[in-house]
Amino acid sequence: MADPLRLGIAGLGTVGAGVVKIVRQKANLLGARAGREVVISAVSARSKSKDRGVNLSAYAWEDDPVKLALRDDVDVFVELMGGEDGPAKAATEAAIKAGKDVVTANKAMLAMHGQALAELAEENNKVIRFEAAVAGGIPVIKALTEGLAGNSITRVMGVMNGSCNYILTRMQSAGLTYEEVFAEADGLGYLEADPQLDVGGIDAAHKLAILSSIAFGTQVNFAGIALEGIENVTIEDINAAADMGFKIKLLGSAQMTGRGLEQSMAPCLVPATSPLGQLDGGTNMIVLEGDHVGQIVLRGAGAGEGPTASAVMSDVMDLARGIRLPTFGQPAATLEKAKAAGSAAPAPYYLRMALDDKPGALAKVATALGDAGVSIDRMRQYDHADASAPVLIVTHTTSSEALVAALDALPATGVVNGAPVALRIEQV
Ligand code: NAP
Ligand code: HSE
Repeated sequence: MADPLRLGIAGLGTVGAGVVKIVRQKANLLGARAGREVVISAVSARSKSKDRGVNLSAYAWEDDPVKLALRDDVDVFVELMGGEDGPAKAATEAAIKAGKDVVTANKAMLAMHGQALAELAEENNKVIRFEAAVAGGIPVIKALTEGLAGNSITRVMGVMNGSCNYILTRMQSAGLTYEEVFAEADGLGYLEADPQLDVGGIDAAHKLAILSSIAFGTQVNFAGIALEGIENVTIEDINAAADMGFKIKLLGSAQMTGRGLEQSMAPCLVPATSPLGQLDGGTNMIVLEGDHVGQIVLRGAGAGEGPTASAVMSDVMDLARGIRLPTFGQPAATLEKAKAAGSAAPAPYYLRMALDDKPGALAKVATALGDAGVSIDRMRQYDHADASAPVLIVTHTTSSEALVAALDALPATGVVNGAPVALRIEQV
């Protein structure tokens, strides 16, 4: 039997403790599958005395994750601390320079420094694996880099943040406002320590940036994502969208177009009967489209101890078996610096606005939309107690430039009260 693969685990929180548990509980299974033992040599966290629900007494302890990364008895540095810079990045770089492979769940670090880290790893003949960084337990990195390696990927999309999907689902099912459900989710511990990472769409955008890089062979480009969070999604829009046969999701989408790489993470409407429309609660779903395979839908737990540790172990087992792929599926030097598409591909849009309830108001709005080249597909006006009538419009497929021109023209009609809401509709 080959020598054991020796892990050094930095970070013993939700994910790190989960990884230690799997290594301890599944020693025989892992050894049989890898053809060698997988063992832990040393661990690191901030507090040595904290009870983590698992016996750590057999492992050496390091206060400093960089020292852990440099230990002679560590073959693979498992980074599970988090944070785009700081100790996670310092220890990852130190590990690679010291000749260790790295496994990480850190999407923020990869989204911001992925290209530089991939180059560093290749200069040192080492690999960085990160199945757990995107969609928790769903093996989407493996699906893209291995299962779909013979395809040109045409599109990647999905729901990549469980907390946002929980909030949007709960708003609809309980008829609660965003603020009420946010407070509830925070109280239940569903949100990141900095909730803005979740509700601002940043965590999901980190994941999308990583998927885009693998899918399109481009350098990871977080800054190129058109990003909008869920903070402005109202219960009125959720109910109105439902009435028109849609659900609102924080949807990530990436595709290579003639205008460049289009990446967006924003609240969108999807058909209520579609797989994405039926995705409720904290679950994630990734839709991949390839030129030969067609559409693949992957669904599962996007977070939590078990699912995320399961994904970390997938990378550990690859390394134990001698499977060594380049970080983003191809050598870092071959990843192109893609130009960001300046605008979104044409799509139908949902518009909600309040109109003066007086003769000719609707006609003025229809004319403003028509003059901008936006065609109305469906329209609905609701009962109302005051002089302001709630109106919903679903447009035919329109360019984002035409939509912006139409929205800009609405105030001049003199009949629209307040700012209209405009959300993209994705046909999936
Ligand atoms: P966590 O529960 O907050 O745990 C973080 C761990 O890192 C803690 O054990 C902490 O030590 C340790 N740590 C922080 N700073 C350190 C430092 N300077 N030196 C040594 N140890 C340090 O975080 P987590 O939820 O397990 O997440 C870990 C990583 O997985 C992050 O990159 C996260 O984005 C990613 N991830 C998490 C999930 C999930 O469901 N939780 C899902 C996918 C990806 P103490 O315990 O002593 O404070
Ligand atoms: N905050 C993230 C989520 C955790 O809600 O999906 C997993 O990355």
